[in-house]
Amino acid sequence: MNSVPANRRLWNRISSDYQHRHDPRIGAEPRLWGMYSVPDAHLGALGDVTGKRVLELGCGAGQWSRALAAEGAAVVGLDLSEAQLAAAARARGADRYPLVQGAAERLPFATGAFDLVFCDFGGLSWAPPHLAVPEAARVLRPGGRLVFNVASPWFEVCYDETAARVTTTLQKDYFGLDTIAEGDGATTYQLTYGDWIRTLIRAGLVVDDLIEPRPAPDALNGYNETEPSDWAHHWPAEMLWVTHKP
Ligand SMILES: C[S@@+](CC[C@H](N)C(=O)[O-])C[C@H]1O[C@@H](n2cnc3c(N)ncnc32)[C@H](O)[C@@H]1O
Repeated sequence: MNSVPANRRLWNRISSDYQHRHDPRIGAEPRLWGMYSVPDAHLGALGDVTGKRVLELGCGAGQWSRALAAEGAAVVGLDLSEAQLAAAARARGADRYPLVQGAAERLPFATGAFDLVFCDFGGLSWAPPHLAVPEAARVLRPGGRLVFNVASPWFEVCYDETAARVTTTLQKDYFGLDTIAEGDGATTYQLTYGDWIRTLIRAGLVVDDLIEPRPAPDALNGYNETEPSDWAHHWPAEMLWVTHKP
């Protein structure tokens, strides 16, 4: 399935509204993961990036990329959407790192070009993992790390489409998790835990950790309604994979 044209159209259409709503929170401080803005300082997923060649897959308006560039990383921000890249280019600090238009499915970079590839609900959510994971692995040097945060299968199977909220009831099958329609042909991707592990292993990666960020009971989800409001305090809403290429 080729979701590149539809995903690009979607993000070009919603970029301005998305940044208006979410940029104040995503960009509030450096290194905030996911829907609950959990600080990386609490999770320790990314480590020291000083002097490292870093690729953000699906950088959006570049909130993560410019923070890492300010820490001394040689960052490249890649995104599919020209509207999202334009938002990244307008932000203060954008002159510190290059922005590249491209798709996580087929990266325009040489094999072994990066020490770290990462994303937060970016290319590993919006491109088929069986294409995006091997591409990410290809552009890593031996010893390099792929770190990415995506929604958890728990979150997906408990999402009630009609009520537009996450619930405590299983709403759809776990087996067969694959594509999720986002409207107008746009698609996100989700796998079962077993399929994620097989996809990573087939790409030659080693799993070092699977962090399940646990927000505080009163932490707000900036994107989705949940019932109860402290849903993610009880069940993992996200999974933050930490892997490396041997
Ligand atoms: C939810 S945003 C993630 C960016 C940032 N971390 C944030 O939270 O805003 C998803 C980003 O993925 C980009 N994207 C969608 N499909 C992509 C693809 N196939 N390859 C690379 N980026 C893609 C979108 O344009 C969008 O900027």
